Amino acid sequence: MRTRALTYDGTFPGPLVVSRSGRPLTISHVNETSAPTVVHLHGGHTPSASDGYPTDLIEPGAAREYTYPMTQRASTLWYHDHTMDRTGEQVYRGLAGMHVIHDDEDDALPLPRGPRDLPLLIVDRAFDAEGQFAYPTEPPRTRHGSGNEQGHGVIDDESVEGVLGDVVLVNGAPWPVDEVSATRHRLRILNACNARRLELALDPPPAGGDAFCQIGSDGGLLERSRPHDVLPVAAAERFDVVVDFSRWPVGSQVDLVNRAGSGPTARVMRFVVTRKESDDTAPTDRLPDRLSAIEPLAVEGPATRLWRFTRGEVHGHDGWTINGRVFDPERMDAVVPLDTVERWRFVADMHHPVHVHLDPVQVLGRGGGSPGPADHGWKDTVSLAPGEVVDVAVRFTAHRGRYVLHCHNLEHEDFMMMAAFETV
Ligand code: C2O
Ligand code: CU
Ligand code: CU
Repeated sequence: MRTRALTYDGTFPGPLVVSRSGRPLTISHVNETSAPTVVHLHGGHTPSASDGYPTDLIEPGAAREYTYPMTQRASTLWYHDHTMDRTGEQVYRGLAGMHVIHDDEDDALPLPRGPRDLPLLIVDRAFDAEGQFAYPTEPPRTRHGSGNEQGHGVIDDESVEGVLGDVVLVNGAPWPVDEVSATRHRLRILNACNARRLELALDPPPAGGDAFCQIGSDGGLLERSRPHDVLPVAAAERFDVVVDFSRWPVGSQVDLVNRAGSGPTARVMRFVVTRKESDDTAPTDRLPDRLSAIEPLAVEGPATRLWRFTRGEVHGHDGWTINGRVFDPERMDAVVPLDTVERWRFVADMHHPVHVHLDPVQVLGRGGGSPGPADHGWKDTVSLAPGEVVDVAVRFTAHRGRYVLHCHNLEHEDFMMMAAFETV
């Protein structure tokens, strides 16, 4: 069976974009679909006009150039649809891809590269009997006052919690198998699910544990690597890890599993360790203790802004709010001066992966304590557990204009859990 998808350039995921820090990039998008679209480079330090504000639509038949200055560190980003009210559906139908930025610092480290550098875009999807993406939409009606003349449905109210699938796709393939040599590999893990949280582990674990050596997070390299047995990856988060497949005997099957899933969603993909690497380009050197330098954002005093992520009423329906309000693209919920460090506090009633556009943040603490084991480095998406309070240090630079912050459970976002801010 073949699945029809909405695509960037004909493939799902969209083409892997590889760019170079400091080298500006322009990407032209021509909308040949029948619905409006908006493109956002997630993790991009992007001028407002190219950031993909939810109402900056590319109408069907129209085109738009997005310019990216690429004045940012090497990191693993992704691009995806960001259309007002319809992001969940359009991403689910295929509008997502990865974008890897390289720079001299990352290049100089003895890290696996080429075929040993694997971007892994992980999603869950449900399929109907004809093998098509089964996104729960209702016939056209008016929600949030935005009528939909193209005859596309809108998400039904049942899906307010977030849309889950029962098939796990990695780079578009269900539960794929990859043959790897018994060497170190760099896995750039992206949770591109609409709503599913993953807890990734390798099964069987290597003798001695610490299957994953984390080298980077959303915003690029960590200061030093960190070992993990289990990686909690909320929607939109990225974890850049090194796995040394020489820790398993040749012939082993090593499954990437999801401890937060059950049945079919507990499996993600399989690695088969095929051979000892004779090729001496295989990096065998140990990782240096120090990978990079991260300037700690210094904040004194209490949080200056509070963002409360809670369930609420949205235009007479069940939905999601920030500080009790639903998203209004015309209303700026905060005006933030550039080059100023602020302490922001996020409070959640249930699981919400909170994403801030324009610049990454640093997690200062959780629940009054220190940051969690997966909070290190520069983060653009911070996972909040039910009832949790997380403080982050925020500093916006270079670009003045309007941006958004929102929950990256895409149905929460479409059901209005988004706020706008303006940098000045
Ligand atoms: Cu990945 Cu505002 O989005
Ligand atoms: Cu983003
Ligand atoms: Cu949410």
